[in-house]
Amino acid sequence: MRRRTLCNLLKFAIPAAVVVLWWVYFMYEPHLHVDLVFYDRNWIAAEMQPITPLSGCFNPERVSPLYNVSEAVYGKKRFEVQAGVPMRMGMDCYAFAGTVALPESESIQEHYIPPEERAQYHTYWRTDLAPLTERQEFMLKSFFATQNLPRSRLVLWSNGDLSGNPIVQKYLGLFPDSFTLRVVDIPTLAKGTAMDGSKLLNLNDKKAWVDGDLVRLLVIWTYGGVWIDMDMLVTRDLEPLLEHEFVTQWDCWGKTYQALNGALMHFRQHSPYLCEAFHLMATSTPPRSPSTDWGAILYLRLWRRLLAESIPPFKILPSCFSDPLACRLDNSVPDPFTPDRSDGHWVEGYGLEEGGGLDRTLQHIFAVHLHNRWDKEFPNDGWVDRLLLKRYDLRLREKITWDREL
Ligand SMILES: *[C@@H]1O[C@H](CO)[C@@H](O)[C@H](O)[C@H]1NC(C)=O
Repeated sequence: MRRRTLCNLLKFAIPAAVVVLWWVYFMYEPHLHVDLVFYDRNWIAAEMQPITPLSGCFNPERVSPLYNVSEAVYGKKRFEVQAGVPMRMGMDCYAFAGTVALPESESIQEHYIPPEERAQYHTYWRTDLAPLTERQEFMLKSFFATQNLPRSRLVLWSNGDLSGNPIVQKYLGLFPDSFTLRVVDIPTLAKGTAMDGSKLLNLNDKKAWVDGDLVRLLVIWTYGGVWIDMDMLVTRDLEPLLEHEFVTQWDCWGKTYQALNGALMHFRQHSPYLCEAFHLMATSTPPRSPSTDWGAILYLRLWRRLLAESIPPFKILPSCFSDPLACRLDNSVPDPFTPDRSDGHWVEGYGLEEGGGLDRTLQHIFAVHLHNRWDKEFPNDGWVDRLLLKRYDLRLREKITWDREL
């Protein structure tokens, strides 16, 4: 009797399961990376597949006099930043990052450069989300410790006044020519772009999108330079990357639709790439909310449209350049918030000690993206503490005494 019930149940359950699976497959494209993501096929057909025309930002008469296409787009470059293969094997990606390096002798700055004419780096802190404390200071510290300060300036943007914050005041005092504060005013930044006066700027439910994806593009458009998210620790001088305009790869898995990331990116002032990005934003379906991948999708849609019109696209830095946590278990750097393995190994043949395999790897790449996790602390004497934070303090002390002696 029991067996009959079971058989009857299976007779129904198996075909039902097949139908459901077939329906899921028909509706969604399964992508298996670390997690399984389902993409709505209607959304793919409506948003991802079609290639609408660019708006002509690269037409010579429309390019800003501040931007030189023959130099920025077609000019000779010294370093290659795209490998052509995903570099998922072993330490290939880190080794490739190591090929993008200027000789030490080129980093000497002899003449004074006014702050506005230096390489501009931008970061952003939302004062309404959390106060700026020691965890956020690590990013500022990493910047001042690793960058060539006589040639660089960091602009800390915020949506509220940060000038009374003691951490901020400390660095303004130490590096007045390499650090400044600004409060964002979106409508002013958007003036003259395709987003000028757009309803999207004022939608309250789109606040995360405006504060996340839009601010960075507007800031870089207006001032030019590199965007660095606050949840990064910079590990070395970013200068050799600046000949290129770029975004980064989302991870080493090559997700089809979520391939690109704007946590670290660089565009020149009034770059026609950004002009096209604003056009695309202004003419596209508004982002779903909350949206974590909207920027990623925008960059990909833009990249495909550039190809379609035979315009050399912006570059895509391999993920390990700034996100060494986003690859395989055997080649991602250890989790920054977990204490070091007791055997002192990262992976086979790569130790966690000073001068060891992980240390050398970190010196090849440019940043470590921490993916927010603002509530977590770096373990005492863990690899982040030893190989990054303590060294930042050391280098900052050197820079400060060196400055005083001058
Ligand atoms: C643009 O760049 C090219 C190549 O570097 C240079 O020859 C040309 O003079 C530049 N044009 C302007 C207007 O600066």
